[in-house]
Amino acid sequence: MSSPSSADAIAANRRAWDASAPLHRDAPSWKRLTDGFAGDPGFSWFDPPMEAALRSIGLDGATVAQICCNNGRETVSLMNLGAREAVGFDQSEVFLDQARELARIAGRACTFVAGDVHAIEARYDGAFDLVVITIGVFGWMPDLARFMAVPARLLRPGGRILIHEEHPVVNMFEPREDTPLLVRHSYFRATPFVGEEAIVYGDGPAPQVGPHYWFAHPLGRVFEALIGAGLVIERFEEFPENISSTAFEPLAAGRLLPMSYLLQARKSR
Ligand SMILES: C[S@@+](CC[C@H](N)C(=O)[O-])C[C@H]1O[C@@H](n2cnc3c(N)ncnc32)[C@H](O)[C@@H]1O
Repeated sequence: MSSPSSADAIAANRRAWDASAPLHRDAPSWKRLTDGFAGDPGFSWFDPPMEAALRSIGLDGATVAQICCNNGRETVSLMNLGAREAVGFDQSEVFLDQARELARIAGRACTFVAGDVHAIEARYDGAFDLVVITIGVFGWMPDLARFMAVPARLLRPGGRILIHEEHPVVNMFEPREDTPLLVRHSYFRATPFVGEEAIVYGDGPAPQVGPHYWFAHPLGRVFEALIGAGLVIERFEEFPENISSTAFEPLAAGRLLPMSYLLQARKSR
């Protein structure tokens, strides 16, 4: 099968995420979010390494953008942790409705902007001290260099990007198979993975919503894209912990593989 054009892949991914959104609202995690945001003005969905990284950069009074914010659970958390302004960008209108609901429950005036990340309006250029990207974003992007130009233009000079992502090594495996650690795919795979099932974070069966397209970008391409966008890498750390779907847990057992990473970079110009 031939690969779709970038525009077709992005449009298909939007449809698949929109169709998956109601399943996320029906999941137990939605109640944990609504209870958390309703009950605690300091509630944060970030895990400890990411929260520590955010605190070490410093959120107090900062203007922060989250690219591909999904249901806004982290965008709202950014304000609970001290950000002055948090803007979440995502192309799924259905998820942004959930994000607005979480912000309302938390009493936080976040802004959520719908649309393809590559088309974020120029009026946001240079507006942010920090851009945050987490868990399962790069794989939806057909062209990482084109994508990375976006956070770079959103940052003010000297602003930072903080990335907490799935490690691309996980793309080499089929974690649901009997021998999950058998290498099934090249780390350098050039064609996207095509999914048909709803995009959920568990490992049970999910209804068909496809197609959707996931691109396996090696870590070297992430670094190349950051450097090409004028971003200076300040910190990079790999972790054996799975931060993504529970379907990946068989890969994390034994702590043999890098499953996730934190990367911080600074806009130099
Ligand atoms: C795995 S989710 C991100 C989850 C988020 N980091 C969190 O933990 O809450 C990926 C998101 O990327 C969004 N997305 C994918 N491609 C996009 C694009 N081209 N423009 C904007 N959003 C996109 C999807 O709609 C989806 O909400």
